[in-house]
Amino acid sequence: SDLPLILGIESSCDETGVALVRGCELLGDSVASSVDQHVRFGGVVPEVASRAHLEAMTPTVRRALDNAGVKLSDVDAIAVTAGPGLAGALLVGVSAAKAYSMALGKPLYGVNHLVGHVAVDQLEHGPLPKPSIALLVSGGHTSLLLVNDLATDVVSLGDTVDDAAGEAYDKVARLLELPYPGGPPIDQAAQRGNPKTIRFPRGKWGDGTYDFSFSGLKTAVARHVEDADRQGEPLVVADIAAAFQESVVDVLTRKAVDACVEHGVSTLVISGGVAANSALRALAAQRCQEAGIELRVPRPRLCTDNGAMIAALGAEVVAAGLPPSALDLATDTSLPV
Ligand code: KG4
Ligand code: ZN
Repeated sequence: SDLPLILGIESSCDETGVALVRGCELLGDSVASSVDQHVRFGGVVPEVASRAHLEAMTPTVRRALDNAGVKLSDVDAIAVTAGPGLAGALLVGVSAAKAYSMALGKPLYGVNHLVGHVAVDQLEHGPLPKPSIALLVSGGHTSLLLVNDLATDVVSLGDTVDDAAGEAYDKVARLLELPYPGGPPIDQAAQRGNPKTIRFPRGKWGDGTYDFSFSGLKTAVARHVEDADRQGEPLVVADIAAAFQESVVDVLTRKAVDACVEHGVSTLVISGGVAANSALRALAAQRCQEAGIELRVPRPRLCTDNGAMIAALGAEVVAAGLPPSALDLATDTSLPV
């Protein structure tokens, strides 16, 4: 193929991800995670993450090249996450990308992590219809995006005003004494529970915006746990998990579908670690079908942070003919879309 070979590098949080992409084809990738080193802290420790990126970067690039069956000298351009993310973590990826760019004499493109979460879907389902709506739900973000063009025109419709969706899962898991990261154990517990036994609040429900709020929900769960403790009642973890999860996925899917309807968009992409959630997938599928919307959810490995999302977006940026970043490309912890 004569499409350029893109090397993508991701290091915004706790995953060191590297991938090789041509157009919409993922040739090979590798991800090293420092999640095990954060478990005892119940959340990502930035300094620990940065150090882990530094140690993992070169071997991860090597593994990705091996998986793709290509050589470093075959690479035509390097794409790297410039933000948003953790400052020290981003710096490791951007520094590595600059070094590869300089050593190979190939252009460097700093790209947006959030848009990468959307672009990655093209590796699984092919070119994204324009426009599309994207719901990004992970430990670090909860964003609703109007994607007119991946490379040049993405509009933020709403965001969380407090905790990210995955962060809410992680905090509630802690309250319920479930392990970190909290999403998978809550997802599993909820499947054995009855969501109708407790009614938790729906943050920013029907407020006329596409923003989200999960801290009130978390507080409501905390209060429920305290009350049960005080009254010496056993905690019905499965029911609490189910009721909490129903509140989260109800608001997420309702606002995402509303955004599609308001903007006349017939494709919804859901990505980010929380997209692995079984209840979110089921309710989104049901509501999208009712509204005549095509739902795209990349496979879990592509939903969580990885290098493929950055390489996929890099391919779009190169194809759009955008100018490369300068070698003094700066990281931006709160880079807008
Ligand atoms: O995308 P990701 O791997 O990393 C970033 O935060 O960027 O997302 C991790 C988040 C964690 O908060 C985790 O609890 C959540 O995704 N998560 C889930 C599920 N699997 C992972 N949340 C709900 N249900 C799941 N099945
Ligand atoms: Zn992410």
